Amino acid sequence: MTKKENTYILPEELARQNEIIQRINRNNENEYNSSGKKKFARIITYGCQQNNSDSEKLKGILKNMGYNQTDDNEKADVILFNTCCVRENAELKLYGNIGALKNLKLSRPELIIGVCGCMMQQKHAVEMIKKKYRHVDLIFGTHNIYKFPEIFEKAFHEKCTLVDIMDCEGVIVENLPVDREEKHKAWVTIMYGCNNFCSYCIVPYVRGRERSRKPENVVDEIYKLAEGGCKEVTLLGQNVNSYGKDLGINIDFADLLYKVNEIEGIERIRFMTSHPKDLSDKLILAIKECNKVCEHLHLPFQAGSNKILKSMNRVYTKEEYLEKVSKVKKAMPNIALTTDIIVGFPGESAIDFEETLDVVRKVRFDQAFTFIYSKREGTPAARMENQIREDEKHKNFDRLIEVQNQISRNINEGYRGNVYEVLVDGPSKTNKDILTGRTRTGKIINFEGKDTNIGDLVNVKVTGVFSWSLHGELIENIKSQS
Ligand code: SAH
Ligand code: SF4
Ligand code: F3S
Repeated sequence: MTKKENTYILPEELARQNEIIQRINRNNENEYNSSGKKKFARIITYGCQQNNSDSEKLKGILKNMGYNQTDDNEKADVILFNTCCVRENAELKLYGNIGALKNLKLSRPELIIGVCGCMMQQKHAVEMIKKKYRHVDLIFGTHNIYKFPEIFEKAFHEKCTLVDIMDCEGVIVENLPVDREEKHKAWVTIMYGCNNFCSYCIVPYVRGRERSRKPENVVDEIYKLAEGGCKEVTLLGQNVNSYGKDLGINIDFADLLYKVNEIEGIERIRFMTSHPKDLSDKLILAIKECNKVCEHLHLPFQAGSNKILKSMNRVYTKEEYLEKVSKVKKAMPNIALTTDIIVGFPGESAIDFEETLDVVRKVRFDQAFTFIYSKREGTPAARMENQIREDEKHKNFDRLIEVQNQISRNINEGYRGNVYEVLVDGPSKTNKDILTGRTRTGKIINFEGKDTNIGDLVNVKVTGVFSWSLHGELIENIKSQS
């Protein structure tokens, strides 16, 4: 395969889009001046952090156009669905939610409804929406978010659903506006796409080939974030530890961690996701040596049986995975390990599944994100024989969760009575008098504490333990959000 160069969207193109943003903004302002009515937009995001990060850019663009954010469909002038197609249930949920807007669109024809994201990179999904959900005004994909102003403006004048999907694989866009949800922590995409083609996974087909942002652009973005009060960054990509391979300069993910570690004001660095095949000794050392890199590694293993791993195209064996984990644990005994596991991949026998449980018991993960295998059209696994019966998948899935919950709970029990540094995320969603935050190891901790603000670093003593979270009491404030 010949390597394609990354394509950078030119400043002139972005300037053209910006002119459209300004034009729409002026229209909205004029309307406000004559009618007193503010404009609102709602973005509903499904899927992973990659999509959340894209939604922050769309929000940034909409904000510059003069739209305020809302969670209320009734209030919204624009509703955008940023979709995911990694598993079937994500798709089904979307169809239900778009269908539910039909009456709203009938009563308010000027409402603009848009669908974007990963699912729209699949032809059959686009066809389905065009055919069955005619109240959708515009559809665009993952590669042309930068063109959203132009597509959006056109959609005002179109009668049919406007579709603008780019197949282009190698696009990188810098300097898009962004409206981040939080000030104290931020997701920073360091690379787009994926080259791994795990046989069950749709992501490489909808997100294109791996392409890394230039290190100076990543570092510059994080400097600016730090200046704005950001304390924690999560470096984002489908496989961050293959960062840099496409850049043609001598830099890898470990080198990038050292660079980010030097940025003043940033207190914590996280990253996800890592593919076991690219977890080098150099990277393990970097995680250990960089004081700001948190003691947490998310390292999906997917399945324990070598037969299934091969069929999944994961290119490592169970033994190699366990070997890497033991290296990580030897270098950093207190590191928290989390993982992703798929249950019921085609051909997975009872013995194969036992191998998955064996890895879970041997590694003792702090937490596992467990998924029932979902057939994705267009992937090699969807065409495999020996698809597993639903009841079988569910039986094993329940067993896996039981085993993992017990381990999570036991590990968390070891936190009881100790004091940990916590970055405060704010009041808990369920109880406004309780604050919530995370330890460096990534554990959610809810605690009672007064005079503490979002973004403070505090010491919290663990007093209660659950499988998925901890409870604690505030000991002291280490650093307040300035
Ligand atoms: N690039 C990341 C995340 C990919 S999607 C990684 O490789 O880890 C997140 C998780 O969804 C995957 O790790 C996998 O466990 C799960 N997943 C992906 N495709 C799936 C499918 N077809 N059925 C069930 N789970 C799937
Ligand atoms: Fe999908 Fe595998 Fe790429 Fe992750 S590494 S996005 S599971 S193909
Ligand atoms: Fe879903 Fe796309 Fe992420 S398919 S998991 S939103 S990359």
